[in-house]
Amino acid sequence: MGSMALEERFPNLHVSRHPLVAHKLSLLRDKRTDPKQFRELVRELSWLIGYEAMADLTTQPRPIETPLEAMEGERVEPKVGLVPVLRAGLGMVEAVLELMPSAEVWHIGLYRDERTLKPVEYYNKLPDAATVQVCLILDPMLATGGSSAATVDILKAWGAARIKQVSLIAAPEGIATLSGTHPDADIHVAAVDRELNERGYIVPGLGDAGDRQFGTFAGPESEPGHAQDETAEVVRRLQRNLQTP
Ligand code: PRP
Ligand code: URA
Repeated sequence: MGSMALEERFPNLHVSRHPLVAHKLSLLRDKRTDPKQFRELVRELSWLIGYEAMADLTTQPRPIETPLEAMEGERVEPKVGLVPVLRAGLGMVEAVLELMPSAEVWHIGLYRDERTLKPVEYYNKLPDAATVQVCLILDPMLATGGSSAATVDILKAWGAARIKQVSLIAAPEGIATLSGTHPDADIHVAAVDRELNERGYIVPGLGDAGDRQFGTFAGPESEPGHAQDETAEVVRRLQRNLQTP
């Protein structure tokens, strides 16, 4: 299913159409791109997708004076929180903070169990009550959607009023999972790829976003493509869900 058809089916999905995004994303995907250039591209793409994700923030009037006369300016109304999902989301924070310097940053630590593909939470220092109205979840990859749906669960329980997932690449299976569990959460991405492989990696994708940013590729055994029966069954179930609207 192409990204236009997915956008029709999931009205919360927003796929960038910007040529600069397409150009930079192709460099990011290229396996010859080294960690330094990869980090720079993650940063540049996060700026562009973050900018698009904040296009509907409301503003309040703010009286200002230019050197020539008084006028009614604007200020962004809601308090914004950035929620990078460790590790890979870390590389997106600085760029989005440049756009919204007053944003609060709340880290969530999750990793995917390699066999079950389920997210495992290992870090969460959110205070008892929400301190922001709009949360931007920063995570380059939306694969099965498990990590993202778990983060939205956490943020809703915290009291966040509006939640937006800001990612670079999404799989159709992950979009269906997140939209099914949280249809009110917006999803902003640079691209939607074809599908998940048997190991739960996005294809064509870019590989492992955390490893490619931080230079931690651990050898062929951790390479996307080594399927296990249990993992492949999880992926098949997600693909069946996607076929049933
Ligand atoms: C990656 C990625 C997401 C998650 C996406 O993290 O950054 O958090 O996988 O997969 P999902 O949609 O199937 O849940 P990973 O678990 O590899 O951890 P890392 O960032 O520490 O490498
Ligand atoms: N996490 C990644 O880093 N890449 C994928 O393709 C899927 C999950």
